[in-house]
Amino acid sequence: MTTIPENIPFKISTTDPASSVRRMERVVIGQLGQTLDGCIATHTGDSKYINSESGLRHLHELRAVVDVVIVGVSAVNEDNPSLTVRLCEGSNPVRVVLDPRGRVDLSSSLFQDGGPKVIIVTCEETDHPAADRFDVIKLSCDNHHIEPKAIVEALNERGYYKVLVEGGNTTLSRFMDAGAIDRLHLIVAPMIMGAGLPGLNLLPIEKLNQAIRPEVTVYPLGSDIVFDCNLRATGA
Ligand SMILES: NC(=O)c1ccc[n+]([C@@H]2O[C@H](COP(=O)([O-])OP(=O)(O)OC[C@H]3O[C@@H](n4cnc5c(N)ncnc54)[C@H](OP(=O)(O)O)[C@@H]3O)[C@@H](O)[C@H]2O)c1
Repeated sequence: MTTIPENIPFKISTTDPASSVRRMERVVIGQLGQTLDGCIATHTGDSKYINSESGLRHLHELRAVVDVVIVGVSAVNEDNPSLTVRLCEGSNPVRVVLDPRGRVDLSSSLFQDGGPKVIIVTCEETDHPAADRFDVIKLSCDNHHIEPKAIVEALNERGYYKVLVEGGNTTLSRFMDAGAIDRLHLIVAPMIMGAGLPGLNLLPIEKLNQAIRPEVTVYPLGSDIVFDCNLRATGA
């Protein structure tokens, strides 16, 4: 498990230090860096960078307090992220890519940088092209969808208990729809995109009383604002 240095200031809630990730045994955190109007990228996939330096540092602190960081295959193919901790102290998480069809671009830096461990999660029936070089977890699929809770369970079985779902939209939305996220950190930047990729795209609801109303702690981070949503403490 990751050892979190004491000098990392990050608390999952600034007003409730007892709920610090450091003290949690297991947690699944989702994050999205989004605009005021709820976008995480332009329609062409440009997302670097929506957040300020402080907002980006918060993402790196999230990476530093978890055991693994999960991203979807499209985020890898479009963003080429390294998923390492660079803007704060702390150890790098294991990097997990959800790639049910084996279509990830293997020239992406996380496969080439010789950095932290990479695990690919794919379908039982997929003959993944990177299986000879990287750890592959095969799980049962329904039309190429893997149950998010099965992904968390498989990671827990391998000793990874603190999980960050970094995005993109599809990956995080599927985890949210499955009730697999404990805490959602929305890092909102003072920017209006007007149109683009929405942060979340959940299953539709009919009535407002079906909407999620989490317990929220808000705190400023430079020009950004973090909404720390506790999805295990939802109101009526
Ligand atoms: N602002 C931010 O915080 C942030 C963070 C990350 C990414 N982004 C942006 O988000 C965009 C990418 O988001 P996206 O929604 O297009 O794609 P994505 O979430 O990165 O990847 C989606 C794909 O991953 C696979 N996948 C995800 N969950 C799965 C599951 N439970 N079971 C099986 N497969 C699963 C599927 O692959 P298949 O299609 O092969 O079935 C799915 O279509 C990029 O433009 C990136 O810049 C923004």
